[in-house]
Amino acid sequence: MSVDRDAFLADIIDGLSASPPELPCKYLYDARGSALFEAICETEDYYVTRADLALHEAHIGEFSAIVGPNAHIIEFGSGAGIKTRKLLAGLDRPRAYTPIEISAAALAESARLLSAAFPEVEICPLRADYTQPIEADSLRLDPPANRRVVYFPGSTISNFEHAEACAFLQRMRNIAGDGGGILIGVDLLKPADRLISAYDDSEGVTARFNLNLLRRLVDELDAELELDAFRHEARFNPDFKRIEMHLIATRPTRISIADRRFEFDAGDSIHTENSHKYSVKDFRELAASAGLESLRVWKDPQGLFSMHWLQSSQPQGAGGGSTVSLRSKST
Ligand code: AVI
Repeated sequence: MSVDRDAFLADIIDGLSASPPELPCKYLYDARGSALFEAICETEDYYVTRADLALHEAHIGEFSAIVGPNAHIIEFGSGAGIKTRKLLAGLDRPRAYTPIEISAAALAESARLLSAAFPEVEICPLRADYTQPIEADSLRLDPPANRRVVYFPGSTISNFEHAEACAFLQRMRNIAGDGGGILIGVDLLKPADRLISAYDDSEGVTARFNLNLLRRLVDELDAELELDAFRHEARFNPDFKRIEMHLIATRPTRISIADRRFEFDAGDSIHTENSHKYSVKDFRELAASAGLESLRVWKDPQGLFSMHWLQSSQPQGAGGGSTVSLRSKST
């Protein structure tokens, strides 16, 4: 994903100036970072992707029963993956499918593949940043579908702080509209040692993914830093029930960027990502704070991962204007 250099630089300087320093996790995902994330999903230790897929395989018939026929599926992300195919193949005559994705290339490829695989489904790709407001018109169908269903597998919601996650769910609720629903993947809380090995895998892929952020500062922002003076660390934070990724200075070092210098002692950390883990009850409460009711929850056969079916717990009125607000600093 190409980024605005000035905005990237400003975010990095802001983040390094914070106490303790923290960098937005969205900058983990340049082309190399995205490829490394794909590689993480293949590691033995990162159970999330396999569990999500196993859940889809086990419960697709029940998704179909709850979504019903003739639905408009709206996915945040390019939708090129195997889960989307399973969903579209398993649903009862889906009316249309809209992937919302910022990368034109990823969107075109996904639309091409899905149109070929599902000729009877109208594929309506929407090039947009799903963290920004979406034109309501761009999701309108003629004739309309029975209902809209926002599909957000993979537990990306975990990477949001609770307040952001709540706001994000409210925006999904607006998109789904009255009578619509949200099918969302949520990784479950589990013992810290299991989580730490998932986020510090024995093959070192997550470490490379995290350290890639520093490499970007050098390659794209002309930062001066010693890459080998930082190491990856995954920590479980019990107060927030989340895994945190940090870059830890292994010796006194500094990062010089633009006209700024940031000094680090050995052991100092730069916090780069949070991945919140939810019990079913905790996520139900979060959804309720966004005006959503979790009407159904599925787990994969090993009980590692969950998927919730959410619907608005109160009517939303006439639609509220011409854009659907979807703004967040994460992802
Ligand atoms: C994208 N997201 C759901 C991943 C997660 O599990 O929080 C990102 C990730 N970071 C390290 N490993 C995976």
